[in-house]
Amino acid sequence: MHKHEKKYIKSRKKMQEMPRSLADQQEMIGDKLNFASQEAYKLLRTNLIFSMSDENQCKTVGITSALRGEGKSTTAINLAYSLAEAKKNTLLIEADMRLPLVQKVLQFDNPIGLSNVLAGLNKLEEAVQHQVFLDHFSVLPSGEIPPNPSELLSSAKMKKILFSLAEEYDYIIIDLPPISAVSDGLALAKLLSGMLIVVRPNYCDQHALSETIRQLEFLKVKILGFVMNCKGKQKKKSRRYGEKYQYHSSDKKRDLK
Ligand SMILES: Nc1ncnc2c1ncn2[C@@H]1O[C@H](COP(=O)(O)OP(=O)(O)OP(=O)(O)O)[C@@H](O)[C@H]1O
Ligand SMILES: [Mg+2]
Repeated sequence: MHKHEKKYIKSRKKMQEMPRSLADQQEMIGDKLNFASQEAYKLLRTNLIFSMSDENQCKTVGITSALRGEGKSTTAINLAYSLAEAKKNTLLIEADMRLPLVQKVLQFDNPIGLSNVLAGLNKLEEAVQHQVFLDHFSVLPSGEIPPNPSELLSSAKMKKILFSLAEEYDYIIIDLPPISAVSDGLALAKLLSGMLIVVRPNYCDQHALSETIRQLEFLKVKILGFVMNCKGKQKKKSRRYGEKYQYHSSDKKRDLK
């Protein structure tokens, strides 16, 4: 077994000890969020729009983290939702095929997704869900769990699909697996306009974060910034869990290494 796979299984076990009820996760999405969190995602959206050049082409943005459970999927869904709210034609792709969440949280009946398309079992049109909550919001869920996510995500077909989707959307937000746990997302990362790294304070360790940054820099992936998902201990009793998000541009945070 590859050392990354071992690490992944270990971190997955750790995740299973955390409360992850479906109802709780559904409360973390879109207009169900409290006002402060919705505003924080709008700020993230604004920062993202301004951090990328104003060319007419589609922006493909990966969301990753060093470890499991730092809030990648929650951030990806809400950022995509927020872009769609601003009338940007947005597609959310769930590229984490090992621990899919989007399909469950968004309650899709259709089990077809990216893995089915990459395996040649279904057409792309059968897998993309349009007008999810909002007019400009489309979602490509990960599909049925395949035995070989790494091979599927690094295939030539994946590249072709991404480039053809880029012709239809203003933004493609991609929920990737954690970089230091599995290598699934690395081949895909190289094809993207940029990457956002979600960091959960008091959980992510500096070594894992440094390693993630190192790997992305080695592949010459543009790190757009860091999203501090404040799922740590609350400082004040009055602040509701998860209310605070922060965005740091990558330039300011390079000293993390
Ligand atoms: N800011 C937050 N406040 C409260 N709960 C949160 C917050 N961010 C994420 N969560 C919850 O933490 C859990 C993990 O979040 P999420 O699934 O988004 O992380 P992830 O990085 O995608 O995990 P994985 O690596 O397993 O894919 C979920 O139950 C989610 O609802
Ligand atoms: Mg996830």
